[in-house]
Amino acid sequence: MVSLRLLSLISLVSVVLASPKYRDFVLHERRDTVPRGFVHNGPASVNQTITLKIALNSNNLAGLEKALLDVSTPSSALYGQHLTKEEVEAFVAPTSETTNAVNEFLSSHGITPTTISPAGDWLSFTVDIAKANQMFAADFSVFTYESTGEQTIRTLSYSVPAALQPHVELVHPTVAYARFPIVLPDVTATSDAVPASCATEITPTCLQALYGIPHSVPSQSGSNISVSGFINQFPQVADLKSFLIDFRPDIPPNTTFSVQSVDGGSQNLDIQYTVGVAGGVPVTYISVGSENTDGIDGFLDIINILIAQTSPPLVLTTSFGFDEPDVPAAIATKLCNAYMQLGARGTTILFSSGDGGVSGVHSKACTTFIPTFPSGCPFVTSVGATTGISPETAATFSSGGFSTLFARPSYQAAAVAAYLKFLGSTNAGKYNASGRGFPDIAAQGENVVIVNAGTQVLVAGTSCSAPILASTFSLLNAQLLAAGKPVIGFLNPFIYTNIGIFTPISTGSNPGCNTNGFPATVGWDPITGVGTPVFANLRTAFGLS
Ligand SMILES: *[C@@H]1O[C@H](CO)[C@@H](O)[C@H](O)[C@H]1NC(C)=O
Ligand SMILES: *[C@@H]1O[C@H](CO)[C@@H](O)[C@H](O)[C@H]1NC(C)=O
Ligand SMILES: *[C@@H]1O[C@H](CO)[C@@H](O)[C@H](O)[C@H]1NC(C)=O
Ligand SMILES: *[C@@H]1O[C@H](CO)[C@@H](O)[C@H](O)[C@H]1NC(C)=O
Repeated sequence: MVSLRLLSLISLVSVVLASPKYRDFVLHERRDTVPRGFVHNGPASVNQTITLKIALNSNNLAGLEKALLDVSTPSSALYGQHLTKEEVEAFVAPTSETTNAVNEFLSSHGITPTTISPAGDWLSFTVDIAKANQMFAADFSVFTYESTGEQTIRTLSYSVPAALQPHVELVHPTVAYARFPIVLPDVTATSDAVPASCATEITPTCLQALYGIPHSVPSQSGSNISVSGFINQFPQVADLKSFLIDFRPDIPPNTTFSVQSVDGGSQNLDIQYTVGVAGGVPVTYISVGSENTDGIDGFLDIINILIAQTSPPLVLTTSFGFDEPDVPAAIATKLCNAYMQLGARGTTILFSSGDGGVSGVHSKACTTFIPTFPSGCPFVTSVGATTGISPETAATFSSGGFSTLFARPSYQAAAVAAYLKFLGSTNAGKYNASGRGFPDIAAQGENVVIVNAGTQVLVAGTSCSAPILASTFSLLNAQLLAAGKPVIGFLNPFIYTNIGIFTPISTGSNPGCNTNGFPATVGWDPITGVGTPVFANLRTAFGLS
């Protein structure tokens, strides 16, 4: 009796606290199960605090997408006229109705949020778990990532008040679990000798010969590259110096890179194949520490910082990614739209496609194919891997396929339709044929020589291919800038209107999930995209004589 009365008293109190306007909840995001690799340890302590971010709906993302395609499609009158920070923010900003509705809700809980993005589409606030559970009908709990013992607070579902639902894109971190698998190169062999031949060992010299990449750029060209780094890996300056001495005797051995630190945070490969291939283009290493609290391994922090910059890098390359099913749709969409913002500003964004063939970022058992993220986002350029030189062949580990989150964008409609026709019923039911196909393009990714702890080693992975192409495009940017032309920006519409200028990769496949994967063929394919670059052809297609 006593306890029943007490219970009804408590529920009366909570009804009084929550304004009537916010009593009806609508489920917003939910996971069916605890994600792979995590165990559920029970409810989080109600007194513990959590910093939550709310993403507010933007007023006109469709307008931004149209603007992005206008400035990135070669046949468009607006081609190359990239948007300013303010122009992008005007599309991304929430309406005042949305901002007011969310602020009113937070204020009803005694919360004054901090605006954490220039467009005002992200708000942040810190509350205790009891309040977080009440505000979003959530069940914030402790989850342990088994392989490291690291604990994280998440919920398997949350709701938002019905009155608020039209205004809220997502609440984060809630159903997105950190410590996803990442793409890292596999070290395949070691060798102390200078490479004998590009057939077995890929060096900058091989890449210059294979793709016709220029050896140097006009100094002060204004071209640049930023390399994303995660999980506290850090490139070794001494190894870069040895690499340059061994493989780029034409570049000063003291050529180095700048460091931009995000969230307090070794990627020898990415640095050696940007500094060492893009002869003279300044390279910035963006170091994301493991202390990031963005809830998605630093991916949100890094893109929000770049969006907030008045002058973002012209090329951004990232050799990390996730299996798409591990990233909840709402946060994946929000990140993808953030890449759209940076692309509209003129940044070429490259992601390696993953190293598990059709089975995701790493090879694993599976019954249906596992696409990767961010490669499935239609606003990034996804990079697959090739191997060998005669002929250059699709690397078996090169991830590729079709997103189940993002629909096929119009710029690749014809190329993908042609591939699906070629494929026929092969792999039917294992992939989503209406999804965005990836990768878009490829470069060498096997037997790539780097210097690691003073020793030459061979590495493999699409993590090799992305920085190689970042260098290629930054050299092209340097020439475009020198000729007074606009920089490349978002590359995909260009790629798919110029398929014929790339070297098609028509042999090989990317096995996985007990299948042979997808076969490579001329034109676009989901292992090597449209193929590998031919620098002279790129120059001509970009209007350089
Ligand atoms: C939470 O804080 C209150 C007041 O400080 C305290 O009485 C209670 O024991 C705490 N509960 C937990 C689970 O730590
Ligand atoms: C990259 O180049 C652009 C254009 O030259 C410039 O505005 C920007 O500040 C540079 N950024 C970095 C990180 O070097
Ligand atoms: C690299 O070395 C050259 C020649 O010794 C020197 O002039 C230059 O300032 C050095 N550059 C850097 C970035 O240290
Ligand atoms: C297939 O992709 C489309 C486009 O992204 C999506 O709407 C649909 O839900 C997907 N189907 C499945 C079964 O994943």
